[in-house]
This record gives sequence, structure tokens and C-alpha cells, in this order.
Amino acid sequence: MILKEIQRKLCNNFSTIGIETPELDARIILKEVLSLDDKDLILKESLDIPEEMIEKIITIESRRLNGEPISKIFKKRDFYNSTFIISNDVLDPRPETELIVEIANNYINKNEVKNILDLGTGSGCILLSILKENRMINGLGIDLSKEAISIAKQNSKKLNLETQSNFLVSNWMSSVNYKYDLVVSNPPYIASEDIKKLSKSVKIYDPILSLDGGDDGLNSYRLIASDLKRIISMNALIIIEIGYNQSLQVIDIFKKNDFKLIKKYNDINGLDRVLTFQ
Ligand SMILES: C[S@@+](CC[C@H](N)C(=O)[O-])C[C@H]1O[C@@H](n2cnc3c(N)ncnc32)[C@H](O)[C@@H]1O
Repeated sequence: MILKEIQRKLCNNFSTIGIETPELDARIILKEVLSLDDKDLILKESLDIPEEMIEKIITIESRRLNGEPISKIFKKRDFYNSTFIISNDVLDPRPETELIVEIANNYINKNEVKNILDLGTGSGCILLSILKENRMINGLGIDLSKEAISIAKQNSKKLNLETQSNFLVSNWMSSVNYKYDLVVSNPPYIASEDIKKLSKSVKIYDPILSLDGGDDGLNSYRLIASDLKRIISMNALIIIEIGYNQSLQVIDIFKKNDFKLIKKYNDINGLDRVLTFQ
């Protein structure tokens, strides 16, 4: 079978079961398995594909048809300006979380920031993306999952950020004793009851620890806000991701802990997504 035919089949099969990005998924699979680039997919469309390669493609196609995200199949995901190693032990970095990196970079350009703390670092995608653009700053990423910390360390090595970053297993900031100028976090914020309503690709392939925010989804915010003052410098900025319908409650939690809302940011879909506090 030639490349073009395989691509068409993959596309058709993915769109038939309602996969949102059938063309993109088909292209990624072909590029990965056949070591091709985007240009090759056009210029070599009549290439005859060997049987053993077709078998490999079919195995991956059936994993995708079964709901496994492309990023979990190939164990990598693009986020901001880098490609991150991921696994089933970390949340698949989401495009909307890139907003935290943008807000942090803007803030760093106008304010003196010596160090950053990332609470619930997962793959390390937020912290490492910020450090990569700000080579004079150091950062600590913490996570309750030791498997996630191991992935974050691999990413820091891959991106040559080992001297700027440290990673620690910690229950929120319980093992943190230093003071930070900037705190970033994308904590778990889905209400426990709502997890079963999520798509299969999220509830099966993302770890429950990265999703479950307790009965009302707000447990992480309460725990973080109540212990934050101890580990921040005088004018530190807190940049935190929220669920689209949680802004009022999260603002209230932080206000009760003496934090002032600085700004609310919307994501590309116009939904409340990130809050900043001081
Ligand atoms: C929504 S994920 C975010 C991961 C990554 N920062 C990102 O944006 O892709 C939340 C992270 O918080 C971690 N986490 C959950 N409970 C925690 C706790 N009690 N202490 C520290 N980290 C925790 C999870 O393991 C997970 O990696």
C-alpha cells in the first residue's frame, strides 16, 4: 500500500469514531513510525510502505481508536516552545496552561524575580518553559507523585535546565522552607463526582491525582492558599490555573487568606482560566 492510501484510511477511521483531529493524528503517526517530516508526507505520497511498517501503523491506529491520546502513545507532547517527555504518570500538558507561562514571562520582564516555585509540577512543563526563557532565574518544582518528579527531572535534563531547576516530592509546600518571588500552579481542580463524566482519553490516561480536586474541586486551592504566606517573599506574585466556573470561589478562598486578586485571565475560548494574586 502507498503512503497516501494509508493516510486516507487512518483519517477516515479516526473521523468515523469522532476523533477531533483526524488529519493531524494520522500525520503524527505516519511521521513517527516512518521517520518522515511534513514535507515528505506530500512529496512522497506514492511511496510504497513495507508490510512490517503497515503492521506497526495498524497497532498504533488501534490504540488511538481505543481512546489512547497520541501524546501518551509516543510519550511526548509539545508545550510552549519545547517538546516534553510524558507518561501515564503525568498529566498531558494542555495548551490552555501555556497562558501561565506567558503571564509569568511578562511579569519577569517588569519585576525582579530571583526564584520560582511550581506547585504540582507534573512533567515540569510550566516551570521549565519559564526557566528556558529566563536563564538567570532558578526554580523548584514539587509534586506528591514521585513518578511525576522523575519525569520532570528527565525533562530538565533534556532541555539542559538542570543547573537552574530542582524537583522535590512534597505534599504541596510541606517540604518547602525557602521564600519565592513567583509561585505558579495548575492544581487538580475537577470535582470527584465529575471525573466519571470526562472523556476516556482523560480519565483513563491522565493520573487521578492530577485531576481530582475533592468533593467540590476546590480542595487544592484551600490547602495551597492556607500555607502560602510562609514561603513567599514580600511582593511575590501567585499565578494559578482554575476550572472555567471556579473563579468566584477561588478568589474568595484566596481573599480569606489575605491575598488580593490582581487579574483574571481568559483562555482562547473566552473562559476564565488563570488568576493572579499578591
Ligand atoms: C493538573 S496537574 C498539573 C501538572 C503540570 N503542572 C501541568 O500543568 O501539566 C496537577 C499536579 O498536582 C499534583 N498533586 C496533586 N496533589 C498534590 C499534593 N497534595 N501535593 C503536591 N502535588 C500534588 C499531581 O500529581 C499533578 O502532577
